[in-house]
Amino acid sequence: MAVVKNHRHIISSVVASQDEVHARFGGVVPELASRRHIEVIAPLLDAALENASLKLKDVDGIAVTRAPGLIGSLLVGLSFAKALAYANNKPLVGVNHLEGHLNAAHLSSDNIGYPHVGLVVSGGHTSLYLVKKFGDYKLLGATRDDAAGEAYDKVAKLLGLGYPGGPVIDRLSPKGNADAIKFTTPKLDASAHFQVGEFDFSFSGIKTAVIAQYNKMSVGGKIAEQDSLDLIASFQKKVVEILCKQTIAAANEYKCKDIIISGGVAANSALRKRINELCNAEGISAHIPPISLCTDNAAMVAYVGSRRLELGQRDGMELNATATEEIGV
Ligand code: KG4
Ligand code: ZN
Repeated sequence: MAVVKNHRHIISSVVASQDEVHARFGGVVPELASRRHIEVIAPLLDAALENASLKLKDVDGIAVTRAPGLIGSLLVGLSFAKALAYANNKPLVGVNHLEGHLNAAHLSSDNIGYPHVGLVVSGGHTSLYLVKKFGDYKLLGATRDDAAGEAYDKVAKLLGLGYPGGPVIDRLSPKGNADAIKFTTPKLDASAHFQVGEFDFSFSGIKTAVIAQYNKMSVGGKIAEQDSLDLIASFQKKVVEILCKQTIAAANEYKCKDIIISGGVAANSALRKRINELCNAEGISAHIPPISLCTDNAAMVAYVGSRRLELGQRDGMELNATATEEIGV
């Protein structure tokens, strides 16, 4: 839950992480997620308003994520937001979660040029967009199978490193030799049945290659610690290389001098370092928000909602949640 002023000034932002709830199951359990939403949503509103030293009557409008995601969790948020808007006579704006990620960098950078290329890379998405202006997005490509974060989570699970996998692999990778195992870059067949755009991604092959390598290295289901570290370091190097390569290729193709990266995987320190190096060499400005704005947060949703309110856009009480909904297609 977050309160923003003048679109991009964050007055308060509170996040109730659910990682602990789901960690023992090795992934998100939808039913537990929506129950937890119900438990925390009202106290979070109180905390967000208290931190901002505001009352509900002081806010101009209410923005809420309406898609995409787990439908139970979306419905909890949407019902709560509708009730708040109705009872307090405030305008309501539904926001697509991906549009939130795609705009998160505006909360930390005020000089993002247009058009720019935006990479949203999270547990559910790996998508590249051309952003012509606020609200005008073109999907240039997306993963044809696993999202990058999903690959991180699955590899971490295989190696018994816990959930979510991204942060732990990020932390441990510097201890491994990233050149120990050479993973090949997946070839994306231009005539494949399932393709999104000219800048697609694929991560399931690398995940399978990690499993094959793990089976080779392990004895009786156990892998030596250094082998495990080399495996994750090599895996991360490949994922980072693929993400950087496609993003920069898209920026060059569309003559963009700015790129933004957001979503949980944008918290990855190796990705942040490498994209900055490559962008510097290419004369491109990379805008990557601080980690708290890369992973799921309400401030990015409030930013989009606030921009939409200014444009006179509002939703009615018939607003509904949608589990899957791309933007820019
Ligand atoms: O955007 P997000 O918080 O939630 C979704 O909308 O999916 O992204 C969560 C994903 C998880 O797969 C998690 O493992 C990954 O982001 N992640 C990371 C890092 N921090 C979170 N992946 C790589 N390195 C990180 N430091
Ligand atoms: Zn997200």
